[in-house]
Amino acid sequence: MPVPPTRLDDFILRMQAQRACIDEAAVRTAQMPGPVLEVGLGNGRTFDHLRQRFTGRPIFVFDREVGAHPDCIPAQEFQRLGDFRRSLPDYLSEGRDPAVFIHADIGSANRAASTQLASELAPVWLRILAIGGFLASDQPVHAAGFQPLPMPGGVTTRHYHFYQRTG
Ligand SMILES: C[S@@+](CC[C@H](N)C(=O)[O-])C[C@H]1O[C@@H](n2cnc3c(N)ncnc32)[C@H](O)[C@@H]1O
Repeated sequence: MPVPPTRLDDFILRMQAQRACIDEAAVRTAQMPGPVLEVGLGNGRTFDHLRQRFTGRPIFVFDREVGAHPDCIPAQEFQRLGDFRRSLPDYLSEGRDPAVFIHADIGSANRAASTQLASELAPVWLRILAIGGFLASDQPVHAAGFQPLPMPGGVTTRHYHFYQRTG
């Protein structure tokens, strides 16, 4: 009988998947203009990785408030604070260039609420993202226009998801 994964196993795979998606999106969008969005700044770990992989691009970060490590706090002009349900539509109405990549790390311990939040945000993500741009999400997204892609980097996990905007 195979041993079921522990929460630690799942956590490690999720982190590997985050990194693999960010790295893959950076390579695949290298020739596309446009900003990157970090939806869920949290501690700033993935923001730190994004700013290294997407050097020179504007990276807009979203969270209720800034609670990141002091080394991983973006300049104020790139912070969009408040509830995602409001800050993302507000961002859209700023009329900025379409984003090449949205990294959405929004989950909490309440799995049903996290899935529901992603389904509410998906239509806005679709409108923010360039056609051909990528979405990596800790929640599954079932919305027309998002084509699911295989997890890059040979990572096998149910807890991370990679999509491309097709239309
Ligand atoms: C899993 S953490 C992000 C971790 C981060 N990517 C990192 O690497 O450190 C999720 C974040 O989403 C934020 N969040 C969850 N739901 C939110 C909502 N409805 N509006 C704004 N922020 C929210 C939480 O405050 C939390 O900081």
